[in-house]
Amino acid sequence: SRTLDVAVIAGDGIGPEVIAEAVTVLRAAVPADTTVTTTEYPFGAGHFLATGTILGDDDLAALRRHDVILLGAVGGDPRDPRLAGGIIERGLLLRLRFAFDHYVNLRPTVILPGVESPLRDPGIVDFVVVREGTEGPYAGTGGSIRTGTPQEIASEVSVNTAYGVERVVRYAFTLAETRRKQLTLVHKTNVMSYAGSLWQRTVDAVAAEHPDVEVGYQHVDAATIHLVTNPSRFDVIVTDNLFGDIITDLAGAISGGIGLAASGNINPDGTYPSMFEPVHGSAPDIAGKNVADPTAAILSVALLLEQQGYPEAAASITAAVTADLAERGTTTRSTHEVGSAIAGRLTHH
Ligand code: NAD
Ligand code: IPM
Ligand code: MN
Repeated sequence: SRTLDVAVIAGDGIGPEVIAEAVTVLRAAVPADTTVTTTEYPFGAGHFLATGTILGDDDLAALRRHDVILLGAVGGDPRDPRLAGGIIERGLLLRLRFAFDHYVNLRPTVILPGVESPLRDPGIVDFVVVREGTEGPYAGTGGSIRTGTPQEIASEVSVNTAYGVERVVRYAFTLAETRRKQLTLVHKTNVMSYAGSLWQRTVDAVAAEHPDVEVGYQHVDAATIHLVTNPSRFDVIVTDNLFGDIITDLAGAISGGIGLAASGNINPDGTYPSMFEPVHGSAPDIAGKNVADPTAAILSVALLLEQQGYPEAAASITAAVTADLAERGTTTRSTHEVGSAIAGRLTHH
């Protein structure tokens, strides 16, 4: 028998609503000989406003002891001056990705059967964005001088290390080997020329070790065209942290909505716990109404189970979601109704 020890950070806004359903599905999906333990951590904007703490070193140490982390979404009222500058996003979400070396941010996109895409005729769409998770413009290097004066100078620096680029590119090639063997580097080498050159040279070098993988390149602006006009051309996309953030919201939109888009922040070395979360945020516009779609959080649990060595349980969730989506049509159901319907398909086996 096994145990799966999950840290749960439900977070803010719709986070707790979708995570409640995801945890129900997790418990229903694991094999009978597996005991799931969940430990809830209160971190988020609400916790910060109540306690003054975002995420302490002791909190990181506690989280590190778990097998894996499941996160809903964090972020409070964008107009609240106490939360300005993304302190929660940076101090909590990005801190976890950096501290736990989540250098692969894995974001699959599939248009599941029966799901209505806003694209008229998308064809078969099944690609994965391998988004670098620890560097790029997210690194936090940069600053502002003469702040608040007419002479203010604000800079954001994109950090790209040979080490960091190579390890994520290697991961993407290895993934492509298990799929349709097509890899596209998405960047902006015509403008971000130093980083772009490092990414392109790294892809070229690793490509030499994978002669069976067909390698392409697109500038990120053109990639947004192709993601809308011909998304079936993509298999594995490897890209930097910020480009990956932007194109995966677009990928969510073309594949049935951001309410379906799942992700994993993975530390492939296994040194630290990986963290799974929907691509979407705390959605303050719909929070507290029990209308958020929990499917993205539920599919994130499938990614979690896959990574934790439960491929059958992961597949059973994907199958249950696929069946639910096929019957979903245009019916309006609550967050809890969707979660229960998917969990119900698992427990009936
Ligand atoms: P968002 O993803 O929260 O919302 C964008 C739009 O998508 C909104 O109209 C929202 O109602 C809709 N939406 C999102 N999830 C949905 C779901 N499950 N079902 C139905 N509709 C859904 O993005 P935003 O508004 O830019 O950000 C809100 C807050 O969330 C910000 O504080 C932001 O920093 C934060 N954020 C957090 C994460 C995270 O914790 N992983 C990710 C993205 C944004
Ligand atoms: C995401 C989010 C985060 C990101 C924000 C909230 C820091 O948009 O997970 O896609 O930019 O990575
Ligand atoms: Mn995003």
